Amino acid sequence: MMRIIVTGSIAFDYLMSFPGSFSEHLLPDHLEHVSLSFLVDTMEKRRGGCGPNIAYTLALLGERPVLMGTAGRDFADYRQWLDRNGVDTSLVKEIDGKFTASFFCNTDRGGNQIASFYTGAMAHAAELSFRDAGGCDLAIISPNDPAAMTGYARECRALGVPYIYDPSQQVARLSGDDLRDGVAGSRAVICNEYEFQIVREKTGLDEAAMLSAAEAVVVTKGDQGAAIHLRERTIRVDAVPPCEVIDPTGVGDAFRGGMLKGLALGADWATCGRLGSVAAAFALEHLGGSSHAYTWPEFKARYERHFGPLTAG
Ligand SMILES: Nc1ncnc2c1ncn2[C@@H]1O[C@H](COP(=O)(O)OP(=O)(O)OP(=O)(O)O)[C@@H](O)[C@H]1O
Ligand SMILES: [Mg+2]
Repeated sequence: MMRIIVTGSIAFDYLMSFPGSFSEHLLPDHLEHVSLSFLVDTMEKRRGGCGPNIAYTLALLGERPVLMGTAGRDFADYRQWLDRNGVDTSLVKEIDGKFTASFFCNTDRGGNQIASFYTGAMAHAAELSFRDAGGCDLAIISPNDPAAMTGYARECRALGVPYIYDPSQQVARLSGDDLRDGVAGSRAVICNEYEFQIVREKTGLDEAAMLSAAEAVVVTKGDQGAAIHLRERTIRVDAVPPCEVIDPTGVGDAFRGGMLKGLALGADWATCGRLGSVAAAFALEHLGGSSHAYTWPEFKARYERHFGPLTAG
């Protein structure tokens, strides 16, 4: 079996709902001294982070992904849960005296949000190295501490480890040079349409220029599916309609997990994209990025209903 190393943020999401309207409490005449406390009536703590979400999907699909990242002193339960669900957490380092990265988000009745993201242990991710990671057949570099992402990409290039470059939510924080480097040595690049536009602007590279280095540039487009740009052509991948949309959290990560499964199987890019679409549909139908589950036969049946016979795997 391929040894796939998944790097990316490890986080908890604390989601609260305020049964009123934030704007009624933000008084225009008193904005120089804001001191507000919103009494919320629900709070949930969820397992999150791009790294665990991607690794979880890979594990559901029968791989044994190795998660590499930094977490805090509140990680023990999360580690146990990942271990139980087929993710190898031996490369997750717990940072003394810090909490795991935490996203605190309060949503009001009108869907307005006030959120804070505490980086916590994630700020230490650059202390980890692919040089200490044992062998690696395929890696994904997903949103994380920006210095760590740039360092991992450099190490993968030096070690000859093929990697998927997934700058996504961090495109805003990465410089043009960092992004160019990340793209240049990668096997493939993946982000959504909006993020892709920012990568293009910051790097000055278009699809064709990126493809002089990467084998594929994958651009996801929500319910419109994805476009996979290859040197010789562009493949359109349909989205799989979910039975119902419960929660979009982690849908992009699930897509990446499915796509990586395809690469592990040695499938062509069209098949990789379709595997991503199926994994994303399952994720959309559940709350959070890792509360869904399926077996390989269930997954395969759903794939084949939409796309016809799955020859790989
Ligand atoms: N409404 C939808 N219906 C069906 N499939 C969807 C839908 N939204 C997303 N997907 C699937 O998930 C993939 C990734 O979605 P999207 O392009 O929205 O990623 P994203 O913006 O990075 O998401 P995230 O919020 O997780 O970061 C799409 O290519 C598609 O396969
Ligand atoms: Mg995304």
